[in-house]
Amino acid sequence: MYDLESPIEIAKDIYWVGHVLPDDPFQCHVYLIKDGKESILIDPGSKLTWPHTRKKILQLMPLEDIRYIVCQHQDPDITSCISDIFEEIGTEGRSVVTHWRSVALLKHYDWKVDFYEIEEHQWILETGSRSLQFVFTPYMHFPGAFCSYDTATQVLFSSDIFGAFTETFQLYATDADAYFEQMRPFHSHYMPSTEIVNSGLDNICKYPLEMIAPQHGSILKKELIIPVVTRLRELDVGLFLDAGRGKDIRLLTRSNAILAAIFNDVAYSINGFLTLERVLSEVQKLFKIERIIAMGFIDHQVILFDSAQDHAIKTEVSEKIAKSRYPDLFEQQDVRVEKIENLCTIDLGKSYVSYTFVSHNGEGAAVGMMQFLFDDEQTFEPYELEILKNFQSPFNIMLSKTLEFYKLEEEKNRFFSNSITDSLTALYNRYYLNESGKKEFVNAKRYDYPLSVVMLDLDHFKLVNDTYGHDVGDIVLKDFARKIKSVIREGDMAYRYGGEEFVLVLPHSTAEEAQQLLLRIRERVIGDGGVKIGEEALQYRFSGGVQQLENESSLEEMLKHADQKLYISKHAGRDRITI
Ligand SMILES: [Fe+2]
Ligand SMILES: [Fe+2]
Repeated sequence: MYDLESPIEIAKDIYWVGHVLPDDPFQCHVYLIKDGKESILIDPGSKLTWPHTRKKILQLMPLEDIRYIVCQHQDPDITSCISDIFEEIGTEGRSVVTHWRSVALLKHYDWKVDFYEIEEHQWILETGSRSLQFVFTPYMHFPGAFCSYDTATQVLFSSDIFGAFTETFQLYATDADAYFEQMRPFHSHYMPSTEIVNSGLDNICKYPLEMIAPQHGSILKKELIIPVVTRLRELDVGLFLDAGRGKDIRLLTRSNAILAAIFNDVAYSINGFLTLERVLSEVQKLFKIERIIAMGFIDHQVILFDSAQDHAIKTEVSEKIAKSRYPDLFEQQDVRVEKIENLCTIDLGKSYVSYTFVSHNGEGAAVGMMQFLFDDEQTFEPYELEILKNFQSPFNIMLSKTLEFYKLEEEKNRFFSNSITDSLTALYNRYYLNESGKKEFVNAKRYDYPLSVVMLDLDHFKLVNDTYGHDVGDIVLKDFARKIKSVIREGDMAYRYGGEEFVLVLPHSTAEEAQQLLLRIRERVIGDGGVKIGEEALQYRFSGGVQQLENESSLEEMLKHADQKLYISKHAGRDRITI
């Protein structure tokens, strides 16, 4: 942590001597190059900051050692303290170092000091042990703006360039993306055009840079410079020609910081829905938003992601109906702001002002709709709609990623359920018996509760196949499976073991209880008079063996015992249960 009440050495004999203005996103930095009686003060600051800068300098040297005051352009946040400085130390033997375009304005302070016009001195200032190279960056944002490059330490004093509005004071930037989001509104507002910014950056990037010390925002260490320069080259600037828009720089600054946080969230989450609540709380820092609903299209059905719910909801609403509710949105890719109480057929429980837009995936296909739901008295200023518009892209990314995630989950579930299900009877298959049956066996052993395993076999099934064919055989198998499912309780598991053999695993059932259950199945089998084959009703029966867990050491052993009892049933005449 830095002691911001003292000068901070940022490079050899270079000190930050600025001041932290309370509750101000636009901090001003002042730098001192200490070089004996030829010390250099860069962008000295304003009447707000000078009393504090002065104290810091005095901790290092007498004020009189300031020989050169560099004004990289003439804004009041840079120059308005200079009269106070000269009042205290005089102008004798001192110079204000700047460009002629600034001299034309600064002379109006009437300091009665020499101006060291940089273009008159080959753009260089040599002192006892330092050499400053001046780098021209015209119109960034003043026509005569320039930066100062200290050849000894490769530190660039960049004045407003790389400056930022920062919610909290941070002497050094730590993350290129996060810092760039803070730079964005300042440069969008203050820099005239992307071409001018790039030409200035071309001049700057001619020098090897160890550090960039801007007049606002935070200092950039070497590792952050290239990513920030790259992004600055691409930034649209000089945007706000319409004076009415974007006037709330604080809101813009905060919205960009929040956008960065949301992009971060969305970037790293595969199931964006899980972050919906967190993202909502981020947006709530800016707007009185109450709820976010995403309607995603999967297989032409609407799936709902609602920040007020903890799970996604499959709805009866078709993609077609949803689109017909907002035809203009899909045609014009516009935004709709309106009062709503329901979403298609879904009742929202109260009325809201909704900000609705269509979500597109990377290929531009509509994948759904997003709704930001506000208090039903909410109204929007044009620049607020502007800011809300910026939020569309992270949410689009979030929705299309979430839908991809869900499709994959659905597919995975489909594969899994197919892998454990017998395709003919829709009962579980033998493979899954080894999985799930074993678990039941282990649990019953561990927690010492009854467990019964049943082997069932349809009687004379071969005869059915031989007589009526396998199609009819399949009908009988499916009918039997349906009857088994209609009788077993939650927690009981039914499997097709193979051919006309079936297994039931009945946790918390004694052999007697299992027998009762099988008798109920038998009633169902007999009850509806058999399977309808054309005009005929084909009756069938089954035999069974029940094994309640005793000293068996494995499920396989229980199955063997149950099978032995099935064998007894078969040989005792079939259509019976042995326990
Ligand atoms: Fe400025
Ligand atoms: Fe400035």
